[in-house]
Amino acid sequence: MEIVVVESYRELSARAAAVVGDEIKKNRRPVLGLATGSTPEGMYAQLVRMFNDEEVDFSNVTTFNLDEYAGLHPEHPQSYHYYMRQHLFDHINIKKENIHIPQCYNQDVSEFCREYDRSVIAAGGVDLQILGIGGNGHIGFNEPGRYLNCLTHLTDLTEDTIKDNSRFFNSPDEVPRQAVTMGMGSIMHAAKILLLASGNSKARAIKHAVGGTITTDFPASLLQLHRDVTLLVDREAAALIEK
Ligand code: GLP
Repeated sequence: MEIVVVESYRELSARAAAVVGDEIKKNRRPVLGLATGSTPEGMYAQLVRMFNDEEVDFSNVTTFNLDEYAGLHPEHPQSYHYYMRQHLFDHINIKKENIHIPQCYNQDVSEFCREYDRSVIAAGGVDLQILGIGGNGHIGFNEPGRYLNCLTHLTDLTEDTIKDNSRFFNSPDEVPRQAVTMGMGSIMHAAKILLLASGNSKARAIKHAVGGTITTDFPASLLQLHRDVTLLVDREAAALIEK
């Protein structure tokens, strides 16, 4: 795992966007795996700027998002569909048919999940997967537990995650209790992974992700088994690995 420590969130966002931009430029049909959450917001803002400055063209880009809450309408302001339109898709020239985001709203979830995995394979797999990390070590919505799923699936969210993510909702009661997420196996199949983390609150998670025991109790620890992971962190998130 390559570890890059930067001074600020601004630098982290610019570096992450540059990695994505390079992938798009060097690949004729780039396939990106995308994450949500507050961490990649700055990266998306940079990518929009790069598009406006004609540094990057999204017309041949295909995207697969990691996850989505179960039961939230795609127009719900806290849905990841909404997030992606707001932060990226509404501002660039990506083709609608090339955008893929898990859905779990009024449909057969297991059939949707199988179809999602088939679409990733049909696109040739993910070239560059962007990841954030949950405070409890979750990746996408692959929550800690005795077992991890390989493929896209419906999952229960842990109390930790519900509490963490309640900051985006009016109250913890409004946070969906389930989500659809790509599985750890699908994520580990990406050719390259870029893991982003910023701030003190991620320092403990980053420490467990980069060293020590590989365990389903801390899903991000599995990334140590991947051959091409770059961890891009600011000083605060790196605090416990720099010591
Ligand atoms: C959510 C998402 C994850 C994300 C995590 C961290 O739970 N499902 O994909 O990595 O939050 O979010 P943040 O970047 O806001 O800390």
